[in-house]
Amino acid sequence: MKLHCENITHVYEGKKVLDDVTLHIENASAIALLGPSGAGKSTLLRLLSKIESPTSGQIHVDGMDVINTSEKEYFKHIGFVFQHHGLFPHLSACHNVTIVLEKVHKKTKEEALTIAEVLFEQFELTDHMHKKPAQLSGGQAQRVSIIRSLAASPSILFFDEPTSALDPILTKEVLHAIIKLRQQNIKFVIVTHEIAFARQVADAFVYMEEGKVIESGAIEQLDEPKTEPLKRFLDFVMKF
Ligand SMILES: Nc1ncnc2c1ncn2[C@@H]1O[C@H](COP(=O)(O)OP(=O)(O)OP(=O)(O)O)[C@@H](O)[C@H]1O
Ligand SMILES: [Mg+2]
Repeated sequence: MKLHCENITHVYEGKKVLDDVTLHIENASAIALLGPSGAGKSTLLRLLSKIESPTSGQIHVDGMDVINTSEKEYFKHIGFVFQHHGLFPHLSACHNVTIVLEKVHKKTKEEALTIAEVLFEQFELTDHMHKKPAQLSGGQAQRVSIIRSLAASPSILFFDEPTSALDPILTKEVLHAIIKLRQQNIKFVIVTHEIAFARQVADAFVYMEEGKVIESGAIEQLDEPKTEPLKRFLDFVMKF
């Protein structure tokens, strides 16, 4: 995946939460977005996934001009998974996936069901397809939301701390599912506080603080950070 951000500034309520962010990443399969709370990671992810548009600046993802491409067109290529699964509570896990395929992607009922069945099998959730979200564990529900975002075959997925609402065991289940995506050559950008996981799954990273990109590069660079703020951050998180 190629990621090009030129001079992105984003203002909320008069406050610059992204401050002239310029970022060029070529040929990464998975990018980890790292940084302390309030750094602007979720904001940058929302701009990359066109949930919001920046106050100013340009964004290109895999050659697509994100700001000047319609939502309808851009959303054909991308998917996102948030902190909370966001499944429709009144529908079964399976129906949560097929409804998107039928309504948004105009698949027939049969086509939608076939796609869903293959994915539930892949994510070891076949036995749980007919349960409502409230009858699933948090980790299972989060994996269903990954399936839902994958169902329309996006080329890039955006994840915002997909495990932060889960306990350590369920976190492992979801991280395992994300590692599988890498094996299937699905590209993604992931905001995560799990540094060990980021090293395992990503091949590039972006480190942010206070609305600015402080350092970015190949994931191995986390072993020898070039900037003091990233060194301090890694020392701090490694203590826990
Ligand atoms: N919708 C909004 N309205 C006003 N301010 C916002 C909004 N969303 C985010 N902010 C502010 O923007 C800044 C960056 O927030 P953001 O959510 O991008 O940080 P983050 O790096 O994802 O943090 P965390 O690790 O805690 O999720 C914060 O100061 C936050 O309060
Ligand atoms: Mg966030």
